[in-house]
Amino acid sequence: MIQALRGMKDIMSPENERFVYIVDTASETAKRYGYEYIETPLLEETALFKRSVGESSDIVGKEMYQFIDKGGHDVSLRPEGTAGIVRAFIQSKLDRKGGVHRFYYHGPMFRYERPQKGRLREFHQFGCESFGEDSVYEDFNIILMIKDIFDTLGIGYTIKLNSLGCPECMPGYRDQLIEHLHDIQDGLCEDCNRRIETNPIRVLDCKNETCRTLLADSPVIVQNLCEECDRDFGTLTSMLDSHGIEYELDPKLVRGLDYYTRTAFEFVSSEIGAQSAIAGGGRYNRLVEFLGGKPTPAVGFALGIERIIELVKLPEKGRSGIYLGVMEPEAIGTVLKIAHKKRAKERVYVEYSKRSLKAHLKAADRMGAKICAVIGEEELQNSQIWVKDLETKEERRVGVDRFE
Ligand code: HAM
Repeated sequence: MIQALRGMKDIMSPENERFVYIVDTASETAKRYGYEYIETPLLEETALFKRSVGESSDIVGKEMYQFIDKGGHDVSLRPEGTAGIVRAFIQSKLDRKGGVHRFYYHGPMFRYERPQKGRLREFHQFGCESFGEDSVYEDFNIILMIKDIFDTLGIGYTIKLNSLGCPECMPGYRDQLIEHLHDIQDGLCEDCNRRIETNPIRVLDCKNETCRTLLADSPVIVQNLCEECDRDFGTLTSMLDSHGIEYELDPKLVRGLDYYTRTAFEFVSSEIGAQSAIAGGGRYNRLVEFLGGKPTPAVGFALGIERIIELVKLPEKGRSGIYLGVMEPEAIGTVLKIAHKKRAKERVYVEYSKRSLKAHLKAADRMGAKICAVIGEEELQNSQIWVKDLETKEERRVGVDRFE
């Protein structure tokens, strides 16, 4: 039997209801914050991800679904959503138009990672990208929006926060860090040693216990920020404080994508095991220019739908909809007419085969219907239908024409 590929999942009952609820809740929240929907292709030129996510990142270096298409083009399935949206933003010349443009999106992302709990090769993100607003209040509003989404979904989290500086302060910090890393190089793992040259900031993120101990007193970026980055980070933390939003400063939070400047954050959950990040994002003021557009400040985030699916508390749901059935096969035509009329307003399920009243009632109950309506022999002769409200338990017989 052919099975779904390793690390890829079908989303079916009972998860499908939670999946749709997450997307709907997040979309409604984003719309209230002024975001509009955007859909971009799943497949893009590989060069787009190399230039944005970064060639030295694991995502591009090891995890891309990359191939040459029939026309000889080097293409990749998107490992994340930001790069494609920045491309669309530039391609549609919004960078030259100026002003603020805010987009939300959701859909599948692909990373050829080693599958484990909470880590899939095809997973779904909901995300937002805001272009043209340099104020750190926009970063604050994005964090507030994620908080709103998770609060509505009933999910607990911790916010981790860091600043990754800017071209003014990052290079100086980077040199200082490289110097420190060279001092402890011999004790660090192979990956860290490779990264000292290619991407030293990512060394801070190593999960290896020995490396973590050795890295404990590495210099931290938040203590090496330039005046402007420092002021912005101070504004952000004091806004969070004044709104009573708790966070942890995490100087080792560096994110796995290379495009960030200044604000970087992650929302983590303690209830889902090792893959605890449920959302991540930050500011990326240089990416639009880097991909050939007019310099445009930007900030955004994405949340992982599969990681939160089991944490969601669905709202209480009463019975709804109508179940229609027959005890005489000749009544099916009448029942189908009723079904068509009723569907204009509510969910209708029709059982085509003849069943006993007891069997119909059981089936209606199982599908959570509010009304069970059945035509039996007596009803057929009198152009009536037998109706039971499964909530109030009230039963009645009404003329088919009067069954509103
Ligand atoms: P990211 O941190 O790579 O950021 O991914 C965002 C979220 O996607 C993670 O916090 C996690 O919940 C989920 N996720 C990532 N990889 C997997 C996986 N293999 N299986 C299941 N879930 C996963 C980004 O993708 C950035 N584009 C976010 C962003 C938007 N930054 C600025 N704008």
